Amino acid sequence: MQTLNDLLVESKIFANREVLSPHFTPQKLVFREKEINFIERALAPSLKGERGRNLFVYGRTGTGKTTCTKYVINEVNGIPNTHARISYVNCRVYNTRFRVLNKIISDHMPTYAKRGYGTVDLYEKLANWIEEDSKILVVALDEIDVVKDLDDLVYTLTRINSDIRAGGVTLIGVSNKVSFKEELDPRSLSTLYESELVFSPYYSNEIYAIIKERAKDGFKPNIVSDEILHYIAAAAAKEGGDARFSLKVLSKAGELAEENASDKVSMDDAEHAVKTAENDVVYDLIVSLPEHQKLVLYSIVMLAESGGSYKKLTDGVDTYLFSGEVYNRYKSIAEGLHKAPKSERWYRNYIAELEMQGLIVSFDSGKGIRGHTKLIKLLYPSKKTRAVLEKDLFSVGEQRKSDEPATTGEDAGV
Ligand SMILES: Nc1ncnc2c1ncn2[C@@H]1O[C@H](COP(=O)(O)OP(=O)(O)OP(=O)(O)O)[C@@H](O)[C@H]1O
Ligand SMILES: [Mg+2]
Repeated sequence: MQTLNDLLVESKIFANREVLSPHFTPQKLVFREKEINFIERALAPSLKGERGRNLFVYGRTGTGKTTCTKYVINEVNGIPNTHARISYVNCRVYNTRFRVLNKIISDHMPTYAKRGYGTVDLYEKLANWIEEDSKILVVALDEIDVVKDLDDLVYTLTRINSDIRAGGVTLIGVSNKVSFKEELDPRSLSTLYESELVFSPYYSNEIYAIIKERAKDGFKPNIVSDEILHYIAAAAAKEGGDARFSLKVLSKAGELAEENASDKVSMDDAEHAVKTAENDVVYDLIVSLPEHQKLVLYSIVMLAESGGSYKKLTDGVDTYLFSGEVYNRYKSIAEGLHKAPKSERWYRNYIAELEMQGLIVSFDSGKGIRGHTKLIKLLYPSKKTRAVLEKDLFSVGEQRKSDEPATTGEDAGV
């Protein structure tokens, strides 16, 4: 389907821009039969009115977790007369227990949701609704790691199972956060991980096949060559096997061609688009870090930029920082912002997390340099990283906490 915009301005490049959007769900999902089948098996019992095992879906960004989960949900929703009722919840939007409960209620009992009840009322309404004709409520919590009171949410949703005599609740959690498991309460952990499915990064040839298909419908004929698709696929494979990255690049390259009024996408456009997308990735990555990880990263940037007063190691090309000094700097920056600095143990976790995200590298110095110490190097240009962090950390009125809901009735004890 063409958008109004497409119809108004007939494009020489695009046939259907929507197909190239990362939010578009293609009808055919290649290379994920096994994963789709796994999710189907997790949901199959709910069709018959049995509570299946909870499922946890993990994998790096852009590996198809959301797309495959939604795909199976659509399949199940298409089957008539079952006991299954499904709620897909994007936890970036619904990021507290109250909001998630409210979202589930508004999916299935829309008139009730609007009345401004509290958590206890919502809970009881939901439990009764499930019990009345033995429904199985499946709640897919996408980006589950961002829920602020996740342990409470998991507890509340699973408690329904012991409070009702018929029907039940099955959970599907989806996340791309590596350290998520370690931060969970042990009880939530054993609840959520009754079964687990891991999505591995796509290989270059797989990404090629994915974007080839999208390009076919998204662009007019002969606009993007195979060579360019291969180039984009290779760049996305390097970026962690991220299919979303490849789609962003593909549409950006198309936009560039259009801006230049050319009649096809050139290699220049593609290279340019890859660079832009790489910058976007780093930007998104940095702003989505938890606050103290940002502060640690900021300390690394500050030390990397500061002159000779700090001990650094350099091999002529790269500069390495001493972990202990980064920690000290982090502590004083945190204190300066009136935030209690975390312990060294947490700090080590943060370093590991930043490394996992590809923002820094760290390694042991080996014996000889001040006994045994860790050395740290920033992987992205410090100026850019600093600009992003300063805007995010110090700009007034954009503090994270200010988006706390002003809802009433966030009762405890459910
Ligand atoms: N197997 C596939 N076939 C076709 N398109 C795919 C496939 N896998 C992913 N895509 C496309 O790649 C994009 C990203 O996929 P998706 O949003 O599912 O990733 P994700 O694993 O949920 O990432 P994140 O962890 O960042 O949320 C989507 O536009 C989707 O259409
Ligand atoms: Mg997703």
